[in-house]
Amino acid sequence: MADYKKPDYWQLKARKEGYPARSVYKLKEMDEKFALLKTGGGAPSVCRVLDLGAAPGSWSLYALRKMAAKGFLVSADISPLSRQYDGGLFDGDNFFFVQGDITDPAIQGIILSRGPYSLIISDTAPATSGNRSVDAARSLELAGAVLDYAEKALVKGGSLVLKVFQGGDTAELLKRIKTLFDTAKGFKPRSCRSESFETYYIGMGRNEEPRGMYPVFHSAGK
Ligand SMILES: C[S@@+](CC[C@H](N)C(=O)[O-])C[C@H]1O[C@@H](n2cnc3c(N)ncnc32)[C@H](O)[C@@H]1O
Repeated sequence: MADYKKPDYWQLKARKEGYPARSVYKLKEMDEKFALLKTGGGAPSVCRVLDLGAAPGSWSLYALRKMAAKGFLVSADISPLSRQYDGGLFDGDNFFFVQGDITDPAIQGIILSRGPYSLIISDTAPATSGNRSVDAARSLELAGAVLDYAEKALVKGGSLVLKVFQGGDTAELLKRIKTLFDTAKGFKPRSCRSESFETYYIGMGRNEEPRGMYPVFHSAGK
């Protein structure tokens, strides 16, 4: 049984490199493998990213640091972001944070109105209850909500990273991802705790235009 109170290798590395959570290394590994946060070239040339379940904010900081002025990030979480390491990045003109439940229609409206997005990343996870099948079912529900965002607000050609707890009907989830993207695969980053039952799905190449009404692609601004 892991001792979660004692900082592990990845937590210590995160603190040293200025990130509030070890989860940054999962995104970094997926970005290095799948070139998720590519900026410049292609259409749209400005990367517009949506980070769901963003607190305490490591993935958001990674995206902002990597994209610099070439990208725009919208992040959402029930909890606030940590301001310990952002050095003012969360006050920047290329960042917008929505505090609320991503399944709440009012919050959805705010997030969708700032799209469409070229990349959606979701590390959203329910608070765990200790009952693995209950937790897996809640995680699947959240993953379904994230896929709704991908359907409505991801540009054609855009990509998705989605966390889900194994143990529920992930086959059905993967099937739905496959209908929305040219390629879909599962990936377990090295920095996931060995006993963790989380995994990630990556959808690349959204195969249709977003279903939401987007007359113009936002290239900048909140
Ligand atoms: C593992 S943490 C995300 C860590 C984050 N990627 C980072 O690097 O700092 C999962 C997050 O999902 C959020 N979450 C869970 N259910 C949510 C919901 N319905 N709406 C918004 N956020 C949610 C939690 O509040 C929590 O902050």
